[in-house]
Amino acid sequence: MDRVELSRARVFRGEFSPPPDKSISHRAVIFSSLAKGVSTVRNFLRANDTLSTVNAFRALGIDISDEGPTLTIRGKGLYGLSEPGDVIDCGNSGTTIRLLSGVLSGNPFFSVLTGDSSLRTRPMARVISPLSLMGAGIRARDNDRYPPLAIKGEKLKPISYVMPVASAQVKSSLLLAGLYAGGDTEIVEPVKSRDHSEKMLPAFGAALTVEGLRTTVRGGRELRPLDTHVPGDFSSAAFFLVAALLIPGAEITALNVGINPTRTGLLEVLKKMGADIEVSNIRDVSGEPVADIYCRGKAALKAVLVTGESVPSLIDEFPVLCVAAALAEGTTTIKGAEELRLKESDRIKTIATELRKMGVEIEEYPDGLSIKGADKIRGAEVESHGDHRIAMSMTVASLVAEGGTVLRGASAVDISFPGFFDIIGRLSS
Ligand code: S3P
Repeated sequence: MDRVELSRARVFRGEFSPPPDKSISHRAVIFSSLAKGVSTVRNFLRANDTLSTVNAFRALGIDISDEGPTLTIRGKGLYGLSEPGDVIDCGNSGTTIRLLSGVLSGNPFFSVLTGDSSLRTRPMARVISPLSLMGAGIRARDNDRYPPLAIKGEKLKPISYVMPVASAQVKSSLLLAGLYAGGDTEIVEPVKSRDHSEKMLPAFGAALTVEGLRTTVRGGRELRPLDTHVPGDFSSAAFFLVAALLIPGAEITALNVGINPTRTGLLEVLKKMGADIEVSNIRDVSGEPVADIYCRGKAALKAVLVTGESVPSLIDEFPVLCVAAALAEGTTTIKGAEELRLKESDRIKTIATELRKMGVEIEEYPDGLSIKGADKIRGAEVESHGDHRIAMSMTVASLVAEGGTVLRGASAVDISFPGFFDIIGRLSS
């Protein structure tokens, strides 16, 4: 199903549950594998990215049973991992390779982490430099820039580190390495990035404190097992929210969606654009805020300016925001988002390339784009570039485009959202 034919949606209605959160699913597997005892992960995301993390921990000797809706993980403690007999393939997953590099830096054996052709172009110096400061033996291809990574774990020393870029993957990698360090590791972010690790690690028994942009973790303390229930993924729900806003008469409710404020910057931006969105039934699930989100297509959206501080809170939602901007009144400008060039694809380039095929006027900047809104976009033959969020964003564009669209590379959605096209089909029929 790598080539999908899509057409304009006449209706877009109903309720749906987005898949389980990808970031939380990765972390639940990693923290449970390092805890001493049996943990469970309920509502785990079974998608290519998170299964890369499961397979990595199996290769490190952890028993993970995946039956029914729940994962059962028999963790053996911080030092219970064993040397893998082969290289570990992290697939397409940046979260897997970066978080695992923090764990393996503190484990006394040799390991090699690699991934697919996209992952092998993702920057790793951002984890290698601070982990090396902690004393890790960690090297990588092209002068320590890209995977594969070769890691020889060492006894780590704590550091105080000011991160040059806001990245939850780097922060989490260092927090994990900090569990192995002899003392307090302190990490300061330039802007707040998603804080799932900071919320989850104390629930697993870690000594971790957060004061504003500073997170401190104490090394040497074992984690205890935990039962985690993973909420629905806001980043996956986002495609449907934007589709509903663009389709006249559309009305949808996304159920059980995580609304951690470090993730929901898109809601604020869409509201500024004039969107009709209601968040209700707010509750707590495993320490994360969860809600239902209702959204309907009404009047045209207005253009918006997105810059600086807000960027990390909607970092994964920019491709679909560009689709909303293509149909908004006025010119939308996104700046300060140079990190988009370093994702599963260069998302500034790939979303601009694909939306231009639909007739959208877009200017690219090193750190963002400006998108001239229009009344209409036209169907075209578009490409995912192997990037799940580009595939799903272009699907949303196809639902409002005049004429049919062919999406090539559609199977990229399986990285985070198997069943995506089934929900699109159900809501639009
Ligand atoms: C993630 C952090 C973000 C995000 C990615 C998942 C995480 O990456 O884009 O999809 O789970 O920590 P960066 O940390 O590189 O910004």
